[in-house]
Amino acid sequence: MNPELREWLPQVRSITVLTGAGVSAESGIPTFRDAQTGHWAQHDPMALASPEGFEQDPRTVWRWYQWRRELIARNHPNPAHTALAELENLVEHFTLVTQNVDGFHQLAGSNRVLELHGNIQRNICSQTRQTIADRWISDHRDHEPPPSPHHPRGLARPDVVWFGEALDTAVLQTAFEAAASCELMIVAGTSGTVQPAASLPAMAAENGARLLDINPETGPISALADWHLDGPAATWLPRLVDCLTTP
Ligand code: OAD
Repeated sequence: MNPELREWLPQVRSITVLTGAGVSAESGIPTFRDAQTGHWAQHDPMALASPEGFEQDPRTVWRWYQWRRELIARNHPNPAHTALAELENLVEHFTLVTQNVDGFHQLAGSNRVLELHGNIQRNICSQTRQTIADRWISDHRDHEPPPSPHHPRGLARPDVVWFGEALDTAVLQTAFEAAASCELMIVAGTSGTVQPAASLPAMAAENGARLLDINPETGPISALADWHLDGPAATWLPRLVDCLTTP
C-alpha cells in the first residue's frame, strides 16, 4: 500500500464510502458491467430494470428478480463487507453509501447503510409504491408476479430503483452531505457510470476530500482519485482496517 496513505489513514476522522456491485463479486453475485460475467453483458437493462420493461413483460422481470434473490440467499457477505462493518466502529464520522440492493452490508454488521438503489428483498405495489408484506407475497407465490393488495391494477415488484426512476430524496440528500463533509472518500467496486451515485466522489473531491478508489480495473473514478488500489475489495478493505488496528 502507498506509504503516504498508510501513514495518513489513522489520522482521518471522517470517512464516507461508496460501494458498488464489485464489492459483492467475491460473494458470487455478478456485477452489471463486467465483460462476460456482468448482468448487462447478457441482458438488456431496459427490459429487466425499467418501468417500461416491467409493463411489457412483468413475468420475465419478476422471474429475473426471483432468481437474483435466490442467488443472494444462497451466498454470504465477504471480507470486504466485514471490513466496512469494522470500519464503522473505528472512525469518528463514518457513512456507508451503497448502490447495491443485496443487503450484504447489513448482514455483515454495518448498522447504518444508505441504500441509494433500494433493497431487492422488499416488494412494493407497481401502482402506488406502497410496501407489500412478505406474507402476502408467499400467499400469492403462484402468481408471477403476485397481485398488489393496494391497487386493482397493481402488481408486486421489487423495491429497487429502475432506470428512469428517481432515488429517495432524503437518502440521496444524506449521501450528498456525507460526501461533501468527509476527509476521505473510499470508492469500492463501482464503474462510476450511473448517476447520481457517480457524482458523489467528484462532490467529495470538490469539497477537499481525498479519494481512494479500490477496483481491479481503472475507470472514471480512478482517474479522479488520489490513490487507486488495484485489486479486489475483499483484499484491500481488510488491509485498510489493519492499518487502523495494528500499531
Ligand atoms: P458495475 O457492474 O457497473 O461495476 C462494477 C465494478 O466493480 C467494475 O468497475 C469492476 O471493475 C469492479 N469489480 C469487479 N470485481 C471486483 C472486486 N472483486 N472488487 C472490487 N471491484 C470489483 O456496477 P455498479 O457500479 O455498482 O443499478 O453499477 C451501478 C448501478 O448500475 C447498479 O446499482 C445497477 C446498475 O444498473 C440499478 O440496478 C438501478
